[in-house]
Amino acid sequence: MKSLITMESVRAWRKKITGKVVFVPTMGALHHGHEALIRDARRLAGLKGSVVVSIFLNPIQFGPREDVASYPKPLKNDITVCRRAGADAVFLPTVADMYGPDRSVFVDEESLSSVLCGRSRPGHFRGVCTVVAKLFNIVQPTHAIFGEKDWQQLAIIRRMVRDLNFPVEIVTAPTVRESDGLAASSRNAYLTAEERALAPLIHAAMQSAVEKLKDPVAIVRAVARAVEKIPGARLDYAETVDSVTLLPLKNRKSAGRLAVAVFLGKTRLIDNIGLPPHK
Ligand code: PAJ
Repeated sequence: MKSLITMESVRAWRKKITGKVVFVPTMGALHHGHEALIRDARRLAGLKGSVVVSIFLNPIQFGPREDVASYPKPLKNDITVCRRAGADAVFLPTVADMYGPDRSVFVDEESLSSVLCGRSRPGHFRGVCTVVAKLFNIVQPTHAIFGEKDWQQLAIIRRMVRDLNFPVEIVTAPTVRESDGLAASSRNAYLTAEERALAPLIHAAMQSAVEKLKDPVAIVRAVARAVEKIPGARLDYAETVDSVTLLPLKNRKSAGRLAVAVFLGKTRLIDNIGLPPHK
């Protein structure tokens, strides 16, 4: 597996490749959710194609009071995960190479970014779109894999690719969960033992509401009530939205998504599950 640091080294590596180039952008602190994405990439690329993983803790997608400084950076382990999952190359750009001090061009998605996490994290998706656009231009992948864990991010990236005509096929991977249902996340490491024990109740509440109820508003109410009962939990949002437009889901005629963000102590956890259309 090759480690690529500079833009020039990526360009040189990319020039030699003709088959599929399947790209997995990450911020590092890789867990088994990321590992599943890299394995999916390997399967999609096949023997002839190539898999490239980027590890870049993108400062511009973090707000001033968010956790960029304390975000875990276990680089050695990250490289081991990439190698084990079958990556051909890892791209490890530096912040200085990615962002000049006088940078003045950003990619701003204006519709889907204004709801859900966009409301609580202003500027976050502008940072995500800008870095993903840059990474696409540098790596020039044929395919890129994103996890359903970050459903809104996935919807926004799809919109960016459509509206800016990026010649990249977006592929999705289902949310990988711990055995108790908690969605795997680098941020789970911030939870205290007590919080970690309570965290699966969020997904359980979501599952139970979706199994028992049909009405999108009733589902949201049930989740909010259940989250209120978890000690130390504070609901940031619970919403039922259209899977593609992220607009509030009015009925169950089209595919929807139940999306939730909860502060458990100081840690903000997000999760989402599908609401299949009801006939
Ligand atoms: P990061 O949080 O490191 O996630 C990288 C990719 O892994 C994303 O596509 C995310 O959806 C996926 N992922 C994370 N946890 C997952 C899980 N439990 N199951 C399935 N997929 C999971 O998302 C980002 O980084 C950044 O915003 C990035 C796109 C790299 C831009 O900086």
